[in-house]
Amino acid sequence: MDAMTNPELRIDLRQLVFAIAHAIDLVGVDDFFHGRRVGMMAAELGKLLGFDSEVCGTIYEAGLLHDCGVSSTRVHRRLVEELEWEGQQAHCDRGYALLLSYPPLAHLAEFVLHHHRRWSALQDDGIDPQVALISNLIHLADRVDVLAAPHYADRTLLSQVAQIRDRIAACSGMLFAPRLVELFLVATGNEAFWLRLSPDSVRQYQDDVAHQARPTVLSWVDFKGCADLFARIIDAKSSFTVEHSFGVARLARFLAECVGLPGVRCEMVEVAGLLHDIGKLQIPDEILESPKALSQEEFASRRASSRSPTYSKRWRRTGRIAARSTPRRSCAISSSASRPGSSMPRSSSWLGCTSKPA
Ligand SMILES: [Fe+2]
Ligand SMILES: [Fe+2]
Repeated sequence: MDAMTNPELRIDLRQLVFAIAHAIDLVGVDDFFHGRRVGMMAAELGKLLGFDSEVCGTIYEAGLLHDCGVSSTRVHRRLVEELEWEGQQAHCDRGYALLLSYPPLAHLAEFVLHHHRRWSALQDDGIDPQVALISNLIHLADRVDVLAAPHYADRTLLSQVAQIRDRIAACSGMLFAPRLVELFLVATGNEAFWLRLSPDSVRQYQDDVAHQARPTVLSWVDFKGCADLFARIIDAKSSFTVEHSFGVARLARFLAECVGLPGVRCEMVEVAGLLHDIGKLQIPDEILESPKALSQEEFASRRASSRSPTYSKRWRRTGRIAARSTPRRSCAISSSASRPGSSMPRSSSWLGCTSKPA
């Protein structure tokens, strides 16, 4: 039995979406919850709009992945500091292309494409009404989170609620659909809406969604396609590393074949190569592209952030995706991720696979 047909090598699609979302969250460097908060707010407003649970699940996933076209911390900073800016459409186009190229998630592509477009432009361009509404819902949730984000850490959010509501209300009809703004104002009149944006609530929400979902099992071929998607997100981090993950994957697979590994192992080695630099996403562009050696402070700060409990926990969860589906033969998704910027897995895994060679 080869990797393509091995029933043990199966992955739940929603867990895979969560894994991609975690990788995207890394680009936020210190803010790990942007995508999850956006997904949660959009899905909850979607419920109030009357969408059924399946559509709300799709809205949540689109919210989780809405910024999958952002690999650069520089771009991410602009997106969370300004309500609108000139270059914002580039990451939407990129995210659209990424998702469209991966059939299991292609249905989310259009929402990502339009998630920064003004409501008035969506109307002028005759976009499908439901696509326009959901995209605009994600846009609204995204901008609410940007306005709220500076106030999460010091717990001053509740004192800023009136200003945030006023800013959103002022954009009705231009940036956002009037119907969505009205709904937002009703929902956010209740303090509970804002209290649910805390990290614990956001995590709990994701766990609840995971338990509610009907599992959609992916084949190894689809999982490998997802590793390709990850690799493109990782390689887009820097113009100096374009195609780097693909090069490592090809070379690693070639070496695996040269030493006579069975086909299944060669497949796993290739996937581990595609994912080996995933931790790099969290490193600020300035540090990654600096021609100078890291200062003691920069090195210490990177080590500290990569070893924070939140970070480690998130990647343990990611690693379980493969482990759950294939108890004895999991790829080392998490081992390289535990060391940002590392090009070698930290664990004692053998060529990126946690199982012993046959
Ligand atoms: Fe965005
Ligand atoms: Fe965003």
